[in-house]
Amino acid sequence: MLRNQYYLLFCLCTFVIATLFTYVLQRHCYNCPLLNHRASDPDPTLILVLTYLRSGSTLTGDILQQSPKSFYMYEPLRSYKSNIFLDGQICNIFTMNCSKHSTERILTVMEDLFRCRLQQHKLQVLLPRKHSVAVMSVIPFCKSRPGFDTCMKKLQTLCYQSQSIILKTIRLSMEIMPRLLKKFPGLKIVHLLRDPRGIIDSRRRGGFLRNTGKAQSSKSLCTLIRKNVQYSKTLQKRFPNSITTVLYEDIAKNPMDLSNKLYRDLDLEYSDNFKEWIFNHTSAGTPNNSYYGTVRSNSSKTSQSWRKRLSFKDVKIIEDECGDVIDLLGFRKVIDVEDQKNTDQTLKVRDVDL
Ligand SMILES: *[C@@H]1O[C@H](CO)[C@@H](O)[C@H](O)[C@H]1NC(C)=O
Ligand SMILES: *[C@@H]1O[C@H](CO)[C@@H](O)[C@H](O)[C@H]1NC(C)=O
Ligand SMILES: *[C@@H]1O[C@H](CO)[C@@H](O)[C@H](O)[C@H]1NC(C)=O
Ligand SMILES: *[C@@H]1O[C@H](CO)[C@@H](O)[C@H](O)[C@H]1NC(C)=O
Repeated sequence: MLRNQYYLLFCLCTFVIATLFTYVLQRHCYNCPLLNHRASDPDPTLILVLTYLRSGSTLTGDILQQSPKSFYMYEPLRSYKSNIFLDGQICNIFTMNCSKHSTERILTVMEDLFRCRLQQHKLQVLLPRKHSVAVMSVIPFCKSRPGFDTCMKKLQTLCYQSQSIILKTIRLSMEIMPRLLKKFPGLKIVHLLRDPRGIIDSRRRGGFLRNTGKAQSSKSLCTLIRKNVQYSKTLQKRFPNSITTVLYEDIAKNPMDLSNKLYRDLDLEYSDNFKEWIFNHTSAGTPNNSYYGTVRSNSSKTSQSWRKRLSFKDVKIIEDECGDVIDLLGFRKVIDVEDQKNTDQTLKVRDVDL
């Protein structure tokens, strides 16, 4: 009898001490791996939007982050500047000049991000905050309680509680996706593509071509797209249902249908005012087409505006480097200036299965 009581007391004491210990640890050590368990079951849906500089990814990311309890990271690899990671290599986006680089290192970063271990990557995640609803939502808290660690802890908690973690990047190539898929077998990859002529025009307007020029930039861009599309086809056989390919022009022309397709493929939950949001941001006629904004008065028109802006000569420079890619994506080359400027006539000649 007495022995049983002692035993019970011992258990109770152990329990209390363990609880206290965990509590103290949690308060002072939110960076400890063992305590980084998720608050909510089941595991969140992990989504990677793999795309290219100026490819309509801001709109696409915004559509995805409308899903309730999603945690969106907009260009968390931004500290790598104009570089992109290929298998065992890091390359300049505009020249595709490459040097050796361990893929393991960037995979570790990706793993931290997808597992919400954000505090190692403070600035990269917080800098482009205006694009992420999740990051914006903690800003008032961060202002009222200054201190970077408290702020990051809040953001990290939000990440742990989310149902989907969406990461958009222009700095990873398809080549390293098999290794990422090995770490995260459920990962969904959205390969977002756009007519290279639209991409190059947008880069030109943003001042991104000052050092390399149109021909070299087009060549580099299309080398990358070509590789990624080829690689994606191989990957789809190895990892069925893990890659969804979309064209920005299709989203812009038919935002509701394409958003529905994305949500279906990615298993995302809809928000209550989803339809209204899509309408407001793509077709409402609101006159705000700022360079980095995503409210488009008519997204279809915006996606084609390069045809009015680029000179015929520049279009031909891009087409010379990217002819096969333009064809691969289902577009055709322009015949002459009149054909180029006549936006009533679409350049999309067929739907492609990529
Ligand atoms: C990098 O690319 C430029 C073209 O923009 C080329 O002139 C240069 O030789 C390249 N450098 C290396 C190290 O390959
Ligand atoms: C859509 O725009 C209208 C008019 O500006 C606004 O009242 C409404 O709240 C917006 N809805 C969404 C979901 O953004
Ligand atoms: C247009 O969008 C930009 C950037 O999102 C914003 O700063 C500006 O206030 C908006 N203008 C109007 C008229 O809504
Ligand atoms: C948007 O522009 C396209 C082509 O310029 C046009 O066909 C379409 O009717 C426009 N949509 C709206 C909602 O104004």
